Amino acid sequence: MELYDQVLEAVQAIQTRTSLKPEVGVILGSGLGDLATEIAEPAIVPYTDIPHFARSTVIGHAGRLIIGLLENVPVVAMQGRFHLYEGYPLQVLTLPVRVMRQLGAHTLIVTNAAGGVNPAYRPGDFMLIRDHINMPGLAGANPLLGPNDERFGERFPALANAYSAQLRALAHSIAASSPEIMLHEGVYTMVGGPNYETGAELRFLRAVGTDAVGMSTVPEVIVARHAGMQVLGLSLITNTATGNETGEVNHAEVLAAADAVRPGFAALVRGIVREIPRLTTTS
Ligand code: HPA
Repeated sequence: MELYDQVLEAVQAIQTRTSLKPEVGVILGSGLGDLATEIAEPAIVPYTDIPHFARSTVIGHAGRLIIGLLENVPVVAMQGRFHLYEGYPLQVLTLPVRVMRQLGAHTLIVTNAAGGVNPAYRPGDFMLIRDHINMPGLAGANPLLGPNDERFGERFPALANAYSAQLRALAHSIAASSPEIMLHEGVYTMVGGPNYETGAELRFLRAVGTDAVGMSTVPEVIVARHAGMQVLGLSLITNTATGNETGEVNHAEVLAAADAVRPGFAALVRGIVREIPRLTTTS
């Protein structure tokens, strides 16, 4: 079956559970899934009930799609995302973004847990993604590989301004009114994982301009931009990853850092979502 028809089947299955037309898609990263419980009047659809959806295999990722109202804005949220390191083909991993688009979402908020490569970043800080470096993509692992289906988007999408300047300005204005939120802006580099980086790799990533490093997000952003969605990317810095520290990062530490900033994260995302319908342009 063609990917396009898989997307339509998934959409049909979801639409038997809710008639809400979401405007905003939200992907909740490692340890950040709790925000989904703040969605009002939710239709909760486990990934296992949606045809062609993969399964979440990672601790900290629940595996449910939640459609409802956040700040009175209709949203569709992924509580639990898929990663390249889980072994999913990138077309499978990104299928939910195409489903969100087909359900009606014109904006994607994509969040993740990331290591702070910029030495000024501290665990618990946030970083708006201004731009990205796609390490797997530069080496040939891209969700758009293969024949292009024009029903999704064009063959050679531009990514020069992938992360909406308007949405970044909005996020800064929300963060400015919350003194507990430290919001940086920088370059996110995706690595394949699942191992954390060596010291030499981290120094390499810094040298090429990385501010934060993580194992997700970029494939979803590519597919969202291919589909004409506007994108906001938000990293939670869970650990320092400068290549110079002695201690080693682990997944429990990443989840604990996410836990500690949960209220600030929720306030930031809610504040952004609240204002999205008021934005004038769509890119
Ligand atoms: N490296 C890669 N991915 C991550 C990290 C890291 O240090 N922290 C959270 N996700």
